[in-house]
Amino acid sequence: MTSKEIKIAFLEYENLDQLDPRDRQLAHAAIEAMSGAYAPYSGFSVGAAVMFTDGDIVKGSNQENAAYPSGLCAERTALFYASASRPDKQMEALAIAAGQNGNICASPATPCGACRQVMAQYQTKSGRPLRVILIGADKIWRFEKVDDLLPLIFDSI
Ligand code: THU
Repeated sequence: MTSKEIKIAFLEYENLDQLDPRDRQLAHAAIEAMSGAYAPYSGFSVGAAVMFTDGDIVKGSNQENAAYPSGLCAERTALFYASASRPDKQMEALAIAAGQNGNICASPATPCGACRQVMAQYQTKSGRPLRVILIGADKIWRFEKVDDLLPLIFDSI
C-alpha cells in the first residue's frame, strides 16, 4: 500500500483592485449577474460570468423553482448559455459571486459538485484550462484550471 496526496494551488487576493484587468472585468460581470438571480426560496443570489478567449462575456444567475430540483445554479446557467449561444468559441474563465440582500458573502461561495463537473466538460470542450475566480467581499480566490477544484476529474468513458 502506498499513501498518496493531491495538493491544489490557488491564489488569494484581498480585493478586486488586485486582480489583473481581464479578471477584474469578469468579476464585475459576475457581481452584476447577481441581480438576475431568481431565488424566492433560498434568498441566496448567485451570479456567474463566462469570458471567452476573444474577451466576450456572458452572464447567468441561479434560477429556483417550486419543484426544487428543477431549479439551476448560476454557474450552470451561465455555462450552458455560453455554450449554447456561442458554440464555436473557447471559454477562458468563469467568475462567481454570491450573497444575500445585495451583500456579497465575506468568504467566496464555492461551487457545488454538479457545477464543477459541468465546468470540467466545458474546459474539455474548449481545449484549454478554464480559470475560475471565486469572489468574496474579504477575499478572492483564483484557480488556474478546473482540475484544482475537481481533482481526479472524470472526463472519459
Ligand atoms: N447555488 C448556485 O447558484 N451555485 C452554487 O454553486 C451553489 C448554490 C444556488 C442554488 C440555489 O438557488 C441557492 O444557491 C441555494 O442553494
